[in-house]
Amino acid sequence: MLIQARNLKKYYKKVRAVDGVDLEVREGEILGILGPNGAGKSTTISMISSLVRPDEGEILYRDKDIIKYPQYIRKILGLVPQEVALYPDLSARENLTFFGRLYGLRGKELNRRMNEVLDLLGLNGRSGDSIKNYSGGMKRRVNIGAALLHHPELLIMDEPTVGIDPQSRSHILKTVKELSSRGMTVIYTSHYMEEVEFLCHRIYIMDYGKIIASGTKDELRDMVSRDNTVELQIDTVTERFIGDLKRNIHVKHINVEGSRIFLAVDRDYNILSHIFHTSEKSGVNLQSVQIKKPTLEDVFLHLTGRGLRD
Ligand SMILES: Nc1ncnc2c1ncn2[C@@H]1O[C@H](COP(=O)(O)OP(=O)(O)OP(=O)(O)O)[C@@H](O)[C@H]1O
Ligand SMILES: [Mg+2]
Repeated sequence: MLIQARNLKKYYKKVRAVDGVDLEVREGEILGILGPNGAGKSTTISMISSLVRPDEGEILYRDKDIIKYPQYIRKILGLVPQEVALYPDLSARENLTFFGRLYGLRGKELNRRMNEVLDLLGLNGRSGDSIKNYSGGMKRRVNIGAALLHHPELLIMDEPTVGIDPQSRSHILKTVKELSSRGMTVIYTSHYMEEVEFLCHRIYIMDYGKIIASGTKDELRDMVSRDNTVELQIDTVTERFIGDLKRNIHVKHINVEGSRIFLAVDRDYNILSHIFHTSEKSGVNLQSVQIKKPTLEDVFLHLTGRGLRD
């Protein structure tokens, strides 16, 4: 276990920003913290990063108490804060030089690592331009680069794709996967469930300062349902077709609305060949088939009665 946090609490007057959070980070994983605005994501990772002192609780990094000894975590941590923190009049290279020196990097070694992160983040072409002329997405990428120069063991990213162009966004997501495949451990916070679904091995869902669910994507989906929803569109619904579908033991429920048929199907079963076979046998003209898994949005809705972006 890389990080183990127990019963973390941080209150700001009446606001229970973080209210009894237990959280584990395993070596090599991409851990997602998903939650709406104000859920307590930034406060949680600020405590893990030793920027904010918890009112209560315990945080261990490889069994060392990092509330007492923050230097242990600071040495191995790369933090990408929610707000971009760069010098606008300096170029990407000059900014990275500044951050590199803070980490004690100099000369050739600093240069080598700078080229490495500029390459990784696709910024080589414009690394000499002032940051103030960069798009929001490019600034974000420099910010990520600054957190990577010292080859951290743990990278913490706080909503790194908010308000940026789709190209930078997909570049950032790709970079996170790449870093993970090289063995880096990542904590990634977001209120975009698609990103967390795409990236993360394990996910904590936060709301009002508490972890309301945790697990792998599939474990979280199981909280809503073990079934996928399959939607068929056909030209004419026949009794025979419906009867044939019903006979499959993996089909748990059928609902017909006009020319559309909705099936609840066991998630581990591949229904497609049965559908094709049955439609051919009953002479039904199949127009479309869609399989929908429960999403993390469905999980959040199921647990709280609200959407993630309400
Ligand atoms: N320094 C502070 N002083 C007072 N209240 C704070 C402070 N930091 C956070 N809060 C409050 O604590 C709660 C949790 O905030 P936090 O920033 O951790 O949430 P978040 O999940 O990161 O939200 P967002 O998605 O908007 O970044 C919010 O209600 C916030 O207003
Ligand atoms: Mg935040």
